[in-house]
Amino acid sequence: MKIIKRPRRLRTNSIIRSLVRETKLSMDDLIYPLFVVEGENIKEEIKSMPNNYHFSIDKLMEEVKEILDLGIKSIILFGIPGKKDECGSDAYDENGIIQRAVREIKDKFPAMYVITDICMCEYTSHGHCGILTKDGYVNNDETLEYLGKIAVSHAKAGADMVAPSDMMDGRVGFIREQLDKEGYTNVPIMAYSAKYASAFYGPFRDAADSAPSFGDRKSYQMDPANIDEAIREVELDIEEGADIVMVKPALPYLDVIREVKNRFNMPIAAYNVSGEYSMLKMAVDNGLLNESAIMESLVSIKRAGADLIITYFAKDIAKQLR
Ligand code: PBG
Repeated sequence: MKIIKRPRRLRTNSIIRSLVRETKLSMDDLIYPLFVVEGENIKEEIKSMPNNYHFSIDKLMEEVKEILDLGIKSIILFGIPGKKDECGSDAYDENGIIQRAVREIKDKFPAMYVITDICMCEYTSHGHCGILTKDGYVNNDETLEYLGKIAVSHAKAGADMVAPSDMMDGRVGFIREQLDKEGYTNVPIMAYSAKYASAFYGPFRDAADSAPSFGDRKSYQMDPANIDEAIREVELDIEEGADIVMVKPALPYLDVIREVKNRFNMPIAAYNVSGEYSMLKMAVDNGLLNESAIMESLVSIKRAGADLIITYFAKDIAKQLR
């Protein structure tokens, strides 16, 4: 047999396979999402997201210690306030759930890099990501004022980075201006730039109690069918001063991640969202898939072009990498 080129030569054992491996996932790439609730002594499993919990601030401290020991260096925080209202006032309250959680974490564990999600849907009584007009449309420019206040209050509490996830037009530029005005020129913005109106957020909305009470988010989040529009959104956020741009969800949108990576010389984040997590986790827990499917899917997100991955699997990966 005269076969000169034999790709299998580089697959004969694990040493040569690892020498030629093109994509390596490390703990440096991962951001772990955590949910904070009011109260004390609470660590309650979120039904739609196995092995993820609602933590009161005291219990959150135990979790942060545990994940630091596992090698997780950065987290993104989501808050579930005690009370909601029309304009989501807990979101920018100096003593809101997130502001207190951030202060406490930075006080006890300054080594943990704390990112906060900037949005209103967990805080508004109607569950939309902004201020409503009389006919139920999310008013873009009025919402910006609130997003600016939220971002500044998080920075004041000690957040290392802010991540607007609302999809209002002009929010990155507006938030940058507000942060700079208050002296937070070194707090970076990770923009949820290409955020799709996705059914894969289902378990999260359950976890964050943030499902819209009427209608959907299609007048602000993107149509899953579009990629040119994703490029325009990313371009705008970069012009407005985003430091990191994000594609969300991740696995059904790997083509978008790759296209953004090819076009822009920027750090790209991908959000491996709640639905992606719960599907896979339940399949693994029920023996339908081998656990290695978790690493495989995260490596795929990185191979597609993501530099950073926000994932509920961060603890599983930490244990697998050990
Ligand atoms: C807030 C927000 C959402 C997610 C992150 N920030 C939900 C939404 O837009 O409805 C989803 C994250 C996930 O599904 O894991 N707007």
